[in-house]
Amino acid sequence: MLDPENKPKILVIHGPNLNMLGKRERSLYGDATLEEIDAEIKQTAQECGLIAETFQSNHEGALVEKIQEAIGDCRAVIINPAAYTHTSIAIRDALLILDIPIIEVHLSNIYQREPFRHKSWIADIATARIAGLGKQGYMMAVRGVAEMIKRN
Ligand code: DQA
Repeated sequence: MLDPENKPKILVIHGPNLNMLGKRERSLYGDATLEEIDAEIKQTAQECGLIAETFQSNHEGALVEKIQEAIGDCRAVIINPAAYTHTSIAIRDALLILDIPIIEVHLSNIYQREPFRHKSWIADIATARIAGLGKQGYMMAVRGVAEMIKRN
């Protein structure tokens, strides 16, 4: 629950194809690479008195296992499940095991896009959701969970 500096830890998870940010559909997802976004997430977390671990995978099972590792270790999870948002009951079930805030983030506004992107399998179990703000959505999520953790 606490890192060596005694700061609460949060986990930020990125789903498939988000490792291609900066190269992938830049008009939708922006120019920043995932490495740059992760560095900003860690910096924002530090400013808020938190430690952020970031993780990306293109594999559903790896994402499920990472969520399971957060049990008892993290105070909040911020997740952009990417395409698995619209398909993965396994990720939903893994998140349901957690008893901590879960923030769903999407770079694009999924509701302005194709109808198949309007369905999120985690929408009803997420504590809060941010879509359409680009990479700033992650930073807002970090600030939001920092407030939630302070209150508890
Ligand atoms: C996304 C939206 C998803 O529909 C898509 O499959 C992604 C990224 C977003 O951040 O806007 O890969 O989650």
